[in-house]
Amino acid sequence: MNDSNGSPTVRIGVLGCGNVGAALINIVRTRSDAVAQRTGIRLEIARVAVRNISAPRDVEVSDEILTRDAMDLVTDPDIDLVVESIGGIEPARELILAALAHGKPVVTANKELLANVGAELYKAADDAGRDLLFEAAVAAGIPFIRVLRESLYGEPITRILGIINGTTNYILTKMTDSVDSGGDADYGAALKDAQSLGYAERDPTADVEGYDAGAKAAIIATVAFGKKVVAGDVYHQGISEITASEIAIARRLGYVVKLLGIVERDPDTDDVSVRVHPTMVPDHHPLATVRDSFNAVFVEGDYVDSALFYGRGAGGAPTASAVFGDVIDAAMNLRAGTHGSVGALGKATIKPIDETSAEYLLGLDVADQSGVLHAVTGVFAEHGVSIRVAEQEGNGPDARLVFITHEAREKDVQATVRELNGLDVVLKVGGLIRVIGS
Ligand code: HSE
Repeated sequence: MNDSNGSPTVRIGVLGCGNVGAALINIVRTRSDAVAQRTGIRLEIARVAVRNISAPRDVEVSDEILTRDAMDLVTDPDIDLVVESIGGIEPARELILAALAHGKPVVTANKELLANVGAELYKAADDAGRDLLFEAAVAAGIPFIRVLRESLYGEPITRILGIINGTTNYILTKMTDSVDSGGDADYGAALKDAQSLGYAERDPTADVEGYDAGAKAAIIATVAFGKKVVAGDVYHQGISEITASEIAIARRLGYVVKLLGIVERDPDTDDVSVRVHPTMVPDHHPLATVRDSFNAVFVEGDYVDSALFYGRGAGGAPTASAVFGDVIDAAMNLRAGTHGSVGALGKATIKPIDETSAEYLLGLDVADQSGVLHAVTGVFAEHGVSIRVAEQEGNGPDARLVFITHEAREKDVQATVRELNGLDVVLKVGGLIRVIGS
């Protein structure tokens, strides 16, 4: 079908009309003429599937194009392209498979889905000869997935470090600012602040315990290394145990604490390590300057050296911007009879966290008496963990020993922590914070 100027129309079916769906519908309507002028293709929102027809929504959608029957929408011969914005694994998975089987390209922002069953969906898209595009699933407004799929497709990527959760970056920024101005950097207050601004959910677990970043890290690892990595392969440690004391020490030593998603490939074995944990980032590293709810991704490769991508990782409009770019790409590919692909995916051998190495910061609440330092450092020595920095903070009941190790194996550090926990003079062992080199 052509519009009144003769431009062929691509009729879009949208699944879900929440934040992202509604923002996308608005952008398509606002930018449709501009897109038609530049691409010769007219985009039209043709049908929208919702759970509740009469629910209030952020965009005007006429009753004629609303439906509650999502399966009918994705199999409708009058729909050319499907945008999935309902989230979750089912029924999103079966709807996307049905859309592809009916020859429709699909655009999705659904990180949970891709981090669990992405490989099945990418294969279904290739089998159908149609696009499955998902720029918005990782770091929303930062066009990073396309960079991995296209510009860096041939690059032997060694490591990617990502600030890929805006809520935790906001909380850590507030805590760091508080420490820098002599405050007490209360985690609970920073979390409340993030909730009142709409960054953190009422139940913040997915963000603060690293699950959201972990799903994104699994998708990044899959695309970057061409291997099937799923959410269950990712090691997580969140930020809820981080205290002012650790942040203050990090600041004094020239670091800032960030929650990083890290994906790494061992160049010798090709094994992959995928993890999310609080990390001490040197002040001079570009990621140290990424504040508030912004996201950034830092790529290291053999030829490209390093490259940094920065922007909004969440929010209806930045997410819809990424979805819109994918919609235009998929519409042009559809008209041209072509499609993109993440390519064949191999099996990933995941390096267990125990086998990874880093420098570690570890804080211990201890009894303030002679011989404690000796007893504690003896445990480090016993497990072959060499100490780079040792400090005592506070006295008497507030005594705290803080150590930064030289590079050590996780397994040895965990054995050290277990044994320290058993010492009478150690009152509490704090959470580990790993340190990245520059
Ligand atoms: N809740 C996420 C964040 C955005 O805070 O970055 C959605 O992935």
